[in-house]
Amino acid sequence: MDKHVSETVTDFILNGDHVSATPIAGERLSETLRERLGARDVKIGCNAGDCGACTVLVDGDPVCACLMPAQQAAGRSVETLGGLAREDEITKRLSESFQNLGAAQCGICTPGMMTAAVALLRNTDGPNEEQVQDALGGVLCRCTGYRKIIDAVVAAGQAEVPMQAEGHAGEGIRRLDGLGKVQGTEAFGDDVAPAGTLEVVVIRSPFPRAGFTFGDLDVFGKTAGVEAVLTAADVPGRNVFGVIPAFMDQPVFAEEEARFRGEAVAAVVATPEYARDFDPATFPVTWDERAAAQDVHAAMAPEAAQLHEGRDGNVMCGGFVQCGDARAAIAEADVTVEGSFRSGFVEHGYIEPEAGFAELVNGRVEIHACTQAPVMDLDSMEIILGIPRDQIRIIPTGVGGGFGSKLDISVQPYLALGALKTGKPVRICYSRTESMQSTTKRHPSDITLKIGATKDGKIMGFDFFGYFNTGAYASWGPTVANRVPVHASGPYQITDYRAESKGIHTNCPPSGAFRGFGVPQSAIAQESLFDELADKLGIDRLEFRINNALENNMPTVCGQVFEQGVGIKPCFEALRTAWDDERTAAETFNSNNDTLKRGVGIAGGWYGCGNTSLPNPSTIKSGIRTDGTVVLHQGAMDIGQGANTVISQIFATALGVPVAQLEIIGADTDVTPDAGKTSASRQTYVSGSASRLSGEAMRAQILARVNASEEAALTIGNGQIKVTDQGTEHVIDLSTLTADNEGYVLRAEETYDPPTKPLDENGQGIPYAQFGYAAHLVVVEVDTKLGTVKPLKFVAAHDVGKAINPMLVEGQVQGGIAQGLGMALMEEYLPGRTENLHDYLIPTIGDMPPVETHIIEEPDAHGPYGAKGLGEHVLIPTAPAILNAIKDASGVRLTQVPATPSRVRAAIKDKNNGN
Ligand code: FES
Ligand code: FES
Repeated sequence: MDKHVSETVTDFILNGDHVSATPIAGERLSETLRERLGARDVKIGCNAGDCGACTVLVDGDPVCACLMPAQQAAGRSVETLGGLAREDEITKRLSESFQNLGAAQCGICTPGMMTAAVALLRNTDGPNEEQVQDALGGVLCRCTGYRKIIDAVVAAGQAEVPMQAEGHAGEGIRRLDGLGKVQGTEAFGDDVAPAGTLEVVVIRSPFPRAGFTFGDLDVFGKTAGVEAVLTAADVPGRNVFGVIPAFMDQPVFAEEEARFRGEAVAAVVATPEYARDFDPATFPVTWDERAAAQDVHAAMAPEAAQLHEGRDGNVMCGGFVQCGDARAAIAEADVTVEGSFRSGFVEHGYIEPEAGFAELVNGRVEIHACTQAPVMDLDSMEIILGIPRDQIRIIPTGVGGGFGSKLDISVQPYLALGALKTGKPVRICYSRTESMQSTTKRHPSDITLKIGATKDGKIMGFDFFGYFNTGAYASWGPTVANRVPVHASGPYQITDYRAESKGIHTNCPPSGAFRGFGVPQSAIAQESLFDELADKLGIDRLEFRINNALENNMPTVCGQVFEQGVGIKPCFEALRTAWDDERTAAETFNSNNDTLKRGVGIAGGWYGCGNTSLPNPSTIKSGIRTDGTVVLHQGAMDIGQGANTVISQIFATALGVPVAQLEIIGADTDVTPDAGKTSASRQTYVSGSASRLSGEAMRAQILARVNASEEAALTIGNGQIKVTDQGTEHVIDLSTLTADNEGYVLRAEETYDPPTKPLDENGQGIPYAQFGYAAHLVVVEVDTKLGTVKPLKFVAAHDVGKAINPMLVEGQVQGGIAQGLGMALMEEYLPGRTENLHDYLIPTIGDMPPVETHIIEEPDAHGPYGAKGLGEHVLIPTAPAILNAIKDASGVRLTQVPATPSRVRAAIKDKNNGN
C-alpha cells in the first residue's frame, strides 16, 4: 500500500503513542527516532543495513530503521525495544529468558535481536532453532556466539528464573547489570549527548601515505555552522598518544605526513545541521600521495621510507625466548616438520562504533565515552591537553564490545579539544567505515616454524620466527612482540626452544590488542605442525598432545615452574570421548559421500593472565553507610564479559553477604579507584583478587569490633550489622560510628598486583603469576568442489581454576569461538576494500554451530577462590582446530587464514593435480 510521504510533519504511532516529528527529506527513521523523539534504545552499528542493531517493528514487521526514510513511517505503528519492554507480554517473557540464559553480553545488539525475536514469537508458537536463526539472521552479535540468544528465544517464557541465592563464587547467576540491556536503557557512547549538541567531524587521509597542506582554515572556520577547526596546532599539550610510555608515537592529528589511510589530520566542530551535509572531501586540504609500504617485506626493503626515527628498517621492536639449544636438538631429531603460516588484519567488529560526548563542568573537562581503560584514557588526556590531571574526568559509558581495541584512545581527544575550544558540549560517533579505517586491528603475521621429535613422539627442538605487521604506530605492538615468544610453544614441555618475533611498521592502520595479543596467530603455526608431526610419527593427534602437555612442576619455556594449577591435560582428557566418537561418525559419513567430507580437528592453547613481567595492580574500594548500605566501587570496565557481576560475586563471598545486597558504583575516574584496564584476561584474576581482599578486610574489621570468629554470619541492613557467632548475636549500631567524607562508617580499599619477575635476555623469568588453559575440538564439513567449510559442532574444554559464574564462562567460550571461527574462515581487513560490515564478513547466527562446553577447575593459588582469567583463551585454539579439521576432511593443509572458499578450493585443486 502506498504511504503518504511528507517532507514536513510526519505523524505516526511510536510504542502506542501518537508522535509528530519534522524530519528533513530522506532522513532515516533511526535518526528521527533517536534524535527527534529520544528513542535511544534504537542502536546504530553501521547505518547501512548490515548489522541489524537498529531493528524496529513497523506495523509488526522487523525493519532496519537506518534504511527506512522517516517519512515512510507516516501513519504507521513503530515499536522499539524500550516500548515493547514496558507493555508487551512476549517481550517481558523474552527479557526474562535473555537474562536467565545470559543472552546479552555487551547489550548493543540486544534491542535489535529482541525486537526481531518478538516479531517471530508473535507469529510462531514455540519456534525451533532453525526458525530462530532465520528470523534473527539479519542481526549481528559480536559477543555471544549467538547460541545463548537462540536458546533464549526458544525458551522464552519457559525458563525458570534462577534462584539468586547468595550469588557467591560458583553460582551462575544472572548478570547484575542485565536489566538495562534487555530493556534498551543501557546508555552507550552515542546515547548520552543531548539532542542538538555540536558534532565533531574528523578529516582523515584518503591515502596510506601522503603529505598534506591546509588551505585557508580561517576562512573555512567562518563558514556558517562551523564552530571551530582543530589541527595539531590546537593541541595544547603534546600531540602524541600511545599505550606504552616508551613507544608513544601516534599523533592526535598528523603533522606534515599521514602514515595510514584513515589517519586524522584535522577536525571540524559544527552544528548538527552543518555536520549532516558536510562532505569531508571539501575540507581545504591538498594531498600529496607518496609511495607506501603496506606489508612487512615492503617496509623492510632498503628503498622503503622510514616511518619513525630511531626504528631502523621500520623494525619497531622484537621479542626473544630461548632455552636449551633448539637448532641442535632439531638436527638430531628422528622426525622434523616445518612450515610457513600467514594471517591478515582482523577487525574487532564490535557493533558499537567509537562514540562519546564531552562538556566543561565547573571549568573541568568531562569525557563520556566507550572505553576499556578509563585511567589510561586519563593519563593520555593529561599529556594531550597539558592541563592538571584533576581538571579532567573520564566517565565511561556502556561499552558495546571492545575485544582490545577500546584500550586505545580514539574519540577522546577530539571531544576534549572540541569542548575546550568552543566552550560548548560536543559529541562524536564514528561511522562504521571511520571506525574500521582508524582503529587498531589484530596484527597480520608471517611465521616460520620448525619442530623436531623423537620417534616415540617427544618434542625435540622448536624453532619459531614471526614477523608481525604493527602498522603505522606502536599501540600494543611491543606487547605482542614480547608475548608471542613466551606463548609460541603452546602449553607443552619443550626443553630446546627458540622463539623470536619482530614488529614491523607499515603504512597500515595500527595493529593493537585483540583477544590473544598475537598468541592466536602463533597457535595456528604450532598446532598445525603438531598435527603434521603426529601424523608423520603415526601417533594419534590427541595422544601426541597429551604426551607432551605441561604438568605441575615442569618448567615452561621461560623456566617458570608451577607447582600447581597446570590444567591443560584435563582439558585434553575432557575431549577424548568426543574425539573418538566424532572421528568414527565422520568416517561413516565420508564413506557415503563423495563431495562433502567431514573432518575432526583438535588444538590446545594457553594464555598468561595480566601484563608480561610488569606491574599490573588493581584497587577495589568498599564502604558501608550508616543505613547499612554496602557499596562496592567497582572500576573494572565491563565490556560485556561480566566484570560487574563476577567482581561483585567475589566481594560478596569474601564479606559474607548476598550479592543482591551490594550497591555498585561503576568506573568513573572521580569516584572509583584504578582497577586497571580490561585486557589480557586480567579482571577476574587481578581485580577479582583486589575485590576479595577488600571484602575480607571489611569482614575482618566487622568481626574485630565484636571479637567474633571467622565462622560468624553477617546480616547487614537497617542501620546495623548483626554478627551471629556460635549461637551468640552481636549487634553493631552503625549510627554510633563516625562517617567519613564519603559517608562511610566502615571502608576497605585493597590493591592486588600479580607476583611476576622480569625476563632476562633469553626470556627466562616469571612472566605471569598464572596461565589459563584450553582445548577445542571441531567437526567441519568441507565441500570439496566449492571449497566451503561449515563447522558443525564444537567441544571446548577450559581450565578456569574456579568458575565464579559458570553461565558467564559459557558465554565467553561461545563468543570467543565465534570470533575464532571468523578469523579462521572469513575475516580479513583490507584497507580501502573491506571497510564496512558488508564487505568485511563476521559470523552470523547461521554460522555458529552448537558448542559443548566443559569447565575444568584446576584451582590457581593466586586467583580469587582459585579463579583464572578466560577472555583470551576462548579464541586461541579455535582457528588451528578448524584448520586441522579441514586437513582431516580434505587432506589439504591451509597455511593462510582466513581459509576462504577460494583458498580451500585452490589447495584441493593443487592436491588433486599432484602439486
Ligand atoms: S545500523 Fe541499521 S543495519 Fe546497522
Ligand atoms: S551482546 Fe551482541 S554485540 Fe555484544
